[in-house]
Amino acid sequence: MKKCRISGDKLIKFLDLGKQPLGNGFLNSKKKFKTEYFYNLELGFSKKSSMVQLLKAPKKEKMFNNNYAFYSSTSSYMDKHFKKFADEIKNFLLKKKLKKPLIVEIGSNDGIMLKRFKKFHHLGIEPAKNVALVCKNKTKCKVLIEFYSKKTLNKISRKFNKKVDVYYSTNVLGHIEDIQNVFKNISQSLSDKGILVFEDPYLGEIIKKNSYDQIYDEHIYFFSLISVSKLANMYNLNLFDASPQQTHGGSMRYYLCKNNVYKKTSRLKKLFSNEKKLNLDKLKTYNLFTKRVKNSKEKLLSLLKKLKKNNKIIYAYGATAKSTTIFNFCKIDDQLINFYFDNTKIKQNKFSPGMHIKVKSFKKLSNFPDYYFLSAWNHKNEIFKKEKKYIKMGGKWITHVPFVKII
Ligand code: TYD
Repeated sequence: MKKCRISGDKLIKFLDLGKQPLGNGFLNSKKKFKTEYFYNLELGFSKKSSMVQLLKAPKKEKMFNNNYAFYSSTSSYMDKHFKKFADEIKNFLLKKKLKKPLIVEIGSNDGIMLKRFKKFHHLGIEPAKNVALVCKNKTKCKVLIEFYSKKTLNKISRKFNKKVDVYYSTNVLGHIEDIQNVFKNISQSLSDKGILVFEDPYLGEIIKKNSYDQIYDEHIYFFSLISVSKLANMYNLNLFDASPQQTHGGSMRYYLCKNNVYKKTSRLKKLFSNEKKLNLDKLKTYNLFTKRVKNSKEKLLSLLKKLKKNNKIIYAYGATAKSTTIFNFCKIDDQLINFYFDNTKIKQNKFSPGMHIKVKSFKKLSNFPDYYFLSAWNHKNEIFKKEKKYIKMGGKWITHVPFVKII
């Protein structure tokens, strides 16, 4: 029996997405196809912790290593988003009159947000060496290249000789299998008036949008207000506020403090009552989700096959980790989708994980396709603005959120 990593009770399996490679595991040569790593991607729910989580997660060193292909600074929208987030934290520090505050980012990636705290006592923690080095060289911010752990706490206290006033993290905590220890360490090293703020894709949005492509190796936990609140309480932390975000197809920002030092906001109470209507604490919600996912697969495959029969050219827009899940679950290869196009250098000229679709640079695009599969659907507004010419010439988009359709 698989156990919930938080509560230790039974993990009830509700979704099987089959054999999957690493979501960001792009391959640089055909020779690597034979030795590619695959694992079973299955999702479970715990009634006790209300936490939705992967049944089995690949080892963290397999995912976050020197070849990590995800650079945060690829989208201008995300850059603006992080600036706003950093401003919000700075306002909080001013309001609470925290003197010489210490700010720590867990998973600082290429420094897209950390650079905004350069004038403060700051520290980024980033285990993927290639992205951490980009951060160090480009932004000159202080970064520790390691996984956040008890050892990190010793280093922080030796370096700064004080507790942390703000811990923040974006799209990282849901990636950490050993989340209990992360919460324990944060709780231990947080100053009395300090806060932990983090954001991750919100389970309520995944259920509403049927965006099952959010499920891949790096996303181990799918947070909701109820599951975060229960987890926090186990380590003397309290959820006192939350705010929905548009990023990553619909995220939630969670605000936590110690010993209820900050009062629960009315915004949080409203969000809780909205969440209640979604039944995120009930197994039946997830069984219905599974039915919709299977239906989405059938519809997408039949649409792509029909278009190919009519000799249409279909490319995928954005070599996202998310689309690795879709293409491997639906068995969509380069016979159906000829190429990926992506503006990330490290992904270009490589082959996609599992289905081995070649990734090209937009600079190499000589003719528009008839259809783009919108794999980077979470950047739809930014992409549609950029691709006015394609749209004007009658180019069409295929999406699967919230259901399979042509736009
Ligand atoms: P992302 O949204 O981070 O998804 P995931 O976490 O599933 O990998 O990835 C977006 C990808 O799309 C990234 O590889 C960059 C690419 N992209 C473009 O090529 N052009 C664009 O205009 C945008 C916005 C993204």
